[in-house]
Amino acid sequence: MSLTSDALKAIHDRAGTAPVRLGLILGSGLGHLAQAVDGVAIPYADLPGFPHAAVSGHNPHLHIGTLEGVRVAVFGAREHYYEKGNPAAMRRALDVLKRLGATDLILTNAAGSMRPDVPPGDLMLLSDHINYSGLNPLIGEPTDARFVPMTDAHNPDLRAALRASAQAVGIDIKDGVYAWYSGPSFETPAEIRMLKMLGADAVGMSTVPEIILARFFGLRCAAISTITNMAAGMSDEKISHEHTKAMAPLGAAKLERILRHFLATLR
Ligand code: HPA
Repeated sequence: MSLTSDALKAIHDRAGTAPVRLGLILGSGLGHLAQAVDGVAIPYADLPGFPHAAVSGHNPHLHIGTLEGVRVAVFGAREHYYEKGNPAAMRRALDVLKRLGATDLILTNAAGSMRPDVPPGDLMLLSDHINYSGLNPLIGEPTDARFVPMTDAHNPDLRAALRASAQAVGIDIKDGVYAWYSGPSFETPAEIRMLKMLGADAVGMSTVPEIILARFFGLRCAAISTITNMAAGMSDEKISHEHTKAMAPLGAAKLERILRHFLATLR
């Protein structure tokens, strides 16, 4: 058996075989929502091919169960490119998500803002992204399926639904373009000035490789950033991972309200 079918079997054994409607990847400081899933939490270590995410502030469990009446698979952690240099680290996990029956994937992350009108604590609904890393998780994929169109990678219908949910719960959320920077060092002020000129509104170290993989597997995607800091050179505040973790909960509470409303509309 392949790693994917071994992981699927491990999930089916513990969580049952009812299909999952939607996947949710949680970024730094957003773990609270995983605890709200009524179901089982399976350690990634028990799932063949899943990453062994080691970044502090993340919870390496797959939570399968219901949230707001919808059967979901919540990924409590992701492996970032900067951990081991593997842009395809989440490939197996996303393959499994698709095989569990999911049609949609919502991704969340912590990001630095390049927009003065989107300060720390605010949320940004990604309208598109720039793969500034130049890396691609599909390099080495031998089939023609590797030529994945990315025009509507951030699905217009999902974005409209998330926007409507934000409005319904009274939370202001701006649209913006996310630039993927490899990390783990943060950007220089000159790099941020460049990314702004290129049309980016936020910068972070995740999400883009997962969207490429998710599109490869045929999942519809949308992503929301919680802004934890102004990007390098844009404020006097010192940028650090500690700061990211400390600030993420500010946006997390808003994000949770939007996602709960959004899920309830899928019921
Ligand atoms: N840059 C990159 N990644 C980030 C940042 C940032 O400023 N803030 C949170 N994640």
